[in-house]
Parts: sequence; C-alpha cells; structure tokens
Amino acid sequence: MSIRISPPAAIGIIEEEHKHLSTVIDGLLYIVRAAPNSDTPPDLSLCRAMLYFIIHYPERVHHPKEDQYLFAKIQQRTHQLDSEIDALVEQHANGELLAHRLLDALLAVEFDGLESFPHFHALVEQYVHFYHAHMRTEEEQILPVARQVLNDTDWQVIDNAFLENRQKTNETGERYRYDQLFSRISNSLPVSDSGTLSI
Ligand SMILES: [Fe+2]
Ligand SMILES: [Fe+2]
Repeated sequence: MSIRISPPAAIGIIEEEHKHLSTVIDGLLYIVRAAPNSDTPPDLSLCRAMLYFIIHYPERVHHPKEDQYLFAKIQQRTHQLDSEIDALVEQHANGELLAHRLLDALLAVEFDGLESFPHFHALVEQYVHFYHAHMRTEEEQILPVARQVLNDTDWQVIDNAFLENRQKTNETGERYRYDQLFSRISNSLPVSDSGTLSI
C-alpha cells in the first residue's frame, strides 16, 4: 500500500464541520444556562437560527456522507468497529427527530411563555451531551481506524463524496447561505478572553 503524503480531504472537512457544529450547540447551551440568571429574556430568535443551522446542514449534508462513504468503506476493510458504526448510524437516523423536538420545545417557549423554558433547557442539555458523545466517537474511534485500514483508492472515493458536497453547495449558493448563517450565529455569541465560551 502506498503511503499518503497529504491527509485525506474528507478528514479535514469532517473536523471542520464538527467544529462548526460544536460552536453552535455550545452556544445554544450557553444561552439556556445563562437565561435563569439573566435580567434580559433569552434570545429565542438566535436559538431558532441555531436549530435551523443544525437541521439544514449537519443533519442533511454531513451525516449522509459519513454513512454512505466513510462508514461503508471502513466496513469493507474491517469489522472491528461494527458495533460503534451501527450505533452512530442509528444516532444519525434519530438526530433530525431530536432536533425537531428541540424546535417544537422552542416554539412552545415562544408561544406559551417562559414557563415552558425548563423543558426546552432540559432537551438542549440532552441534545448537546448526545452530540458531543457522537462526534467524540467519530474523532477518537472511527477516524484513527479509518486512517489505518483505508487505502488511497478508498480515500479518493470518500474525498470525492465530501468534496462533491462542497462543490454542489458552492454552485447552488447554499455554501454562501451556510457561511452567512454560521457567521450570524458565531458573531452573536459572547466570547471569553480565551476565545471560547465557558459553559
Ligand atoms: Fe456523525
Ligand atoms: Fe460527524
């Protein structure tokens, strides 16, 4: 097997998308945790923008490529991660449902009042915990094995799938809207001296 000089493009894309998703979900968690101690009401419109981001990008763009290409290729080469991959695929299938549940809980806060906020807060806590555990498994268990077992031809197929996503979203203007929405969200979040949110 030939040795790869440059890291696979798909890994860089997956890590970048995880970083964006972490910024958004940590921001959401920050807002719900800060709300009970704040004199001003929580920014529900920002929460809505965050949920819109989660539902439209990671759920519909990122996960299908992991299932169809990364996980599928790994399972062609090894069965050592079968149970982890089964669990991740199931989490992908549940992710959009959980995000819609969050959206419903947010709408209840907007239309029924702040007494519905504790339920929304509890769902956000669960969701953020669920998502961080999901991404940690992919980064700490799946990607290291992928680097070991996949060959250059496998990576070419996976890279093409992730790069095709990028190209398609560039051509339709979707990428621009994604960047705009992500900037709007990240620019609205308070930043500590270390440059990260302390939640
Ligand atoms: Fe995933
Ligand atoms: Fe992922």
